[in-house]
Amino acid sequence: MQFFIDTADTDAIRELYATGLADGVTTNPSLIKKSGRDFKEVIAEICAIVDGPVSAEVVATEADAMLREGRALAALARNVVVKLPLTLEGLKACRQLTAEGVATNVTLCFSANQALLAAKAGATYVSPFIGRLDDIHIEGMELIREIRLIYDNYGFETQILAASIRNPLHVKDSAMAGADVMTAPPDVIRALAVHPLTDKGLAAFLKDAAAAGISV
Ligand code: G3P
Repeated sequence: MQFFIDTADTDAIRELYATGLADGVTTNPSLIKKSGRDFKEVIAEICAIVDGPVSAEVVATEADAMLREGRALAALARNVVVKLPLTLEGLKACRQLTAEGVATNVTLCFSANQALLAAKAGATYVSPFIGRLDDIHIEGMELIREIRLIYDNYGFETQILAASIRNPLHVKDSAMAGADVMTAPPDVIRALAVHPLTDKGLAAFLKDAAAAGISV
């Protein structure tokens, strides 16, 4: 399973990418707003830090304008993935960008039928939003399972990118459901490594190492 960092905070990206555990980055207009930075400037900086895919989202709503924005974003760096909304216009733009060899991420996916359309449009990634479905009391993880089944039934190559991940349980359940990628905020990724028994065990080992005079 690939791990993408869902942020436009370049300090956090540098820190987590240096662990070797992160494979790419996803952003959206809200994350860009939070960074307080110029959109294209921050995307170019992220692409210079990270070798892997970096999703940057269009803001147009008509296919032709999306295409213009998508081509401009793709020109920023070789690893830009153009993020498009899951609307008919977004799917039309996805089909064309795919034909031009541009990687795409069809976002704001909330149903299996939407994911089926994204695959038919040739999307590189589809982003089902788990947390936002949970927010309205619909089990987000069930959507990942449905899309996995449908894509496997037909051999679609579109990768399932589990998004709107809010906690470590979402990460584990996405992995068990067969998502190809998950994208999560930096705090959630850091939390994956934490367990109280690890901390307790390490403290005891370090105490005993000191008492035994162990040095390596
Ligand atoms: O990048 C899309 C996504 O991960 C949004 O997450 O927490 O705003 O629903 P959230």
